[in-house]
Amino acid sequence: MINTIVLLGYMGCGKSKVGLALAQSIDIPYVDLDFFIENQEGMTIKNIFEHKGELYFRKKERHFLEEILTQKEPVVLSLGGGTPCYYNSMDYIVSSNVISFYLKASINTLSNRLFIERHKRPLIRHLKTKENLIDYVAKHLFERLFFYGKASHVVSVDQESIEEIVLSIKNLV
Ligand code: S3P
Repeated sequence: MINTIVLLGYMGCGKSKVGLALAQSIDIPYVDLDFFIENQEGMTIKNIFEHKGELYFRKKERHFLEEILTQKEPVVLSLGGGTPCYYNSMDYIVSSNVISFYLKASINTLSNRLFIERHKRPLIRHLKTKENLIDYVAKHLFERLFFYGKASHVVSVDQESIEEIVLSIKNLV
């Protein structure tokens, strides 16, 4: 039987799209941690950040991560970009009975994707220019690499289609 598959990586690396396609292709349920939190809290992530603050969000994120990873049924779980980087969550993931994949995208790929949709994302919506965004992503990604690097596998996603990424993951599980 297959174990839970956890997808992680920076905002814009494709965790949700890849996660959904992967879950459909191996026929197990898909859970997107951001959507899960939004459903449980009855609020969008943007509103949680605005009205309750980031710390509240991080506590809920950790709480629901544990809730999902302690379920018996295997799922494909896409994390939020920051999930592995707070509390001891990445060590918790590593010590759980799951296989994890860091979807690795370059600063350029991420910045290009994120610039158009930055208004939807609480952490980067204040950034006015592409240059500001590139600087932010470069620094932030560097800080997070320590956590992302603990994943069971690293999959490069810059040049690959969703189908190719799904195939690479399926070959490793
Ligand atoms: C965050 C990433 C977001 C969401 C929240 C915080 C982060 O998820 O959890 O806005 O800290 O990188 P996505 O990576 O799915 O955009």
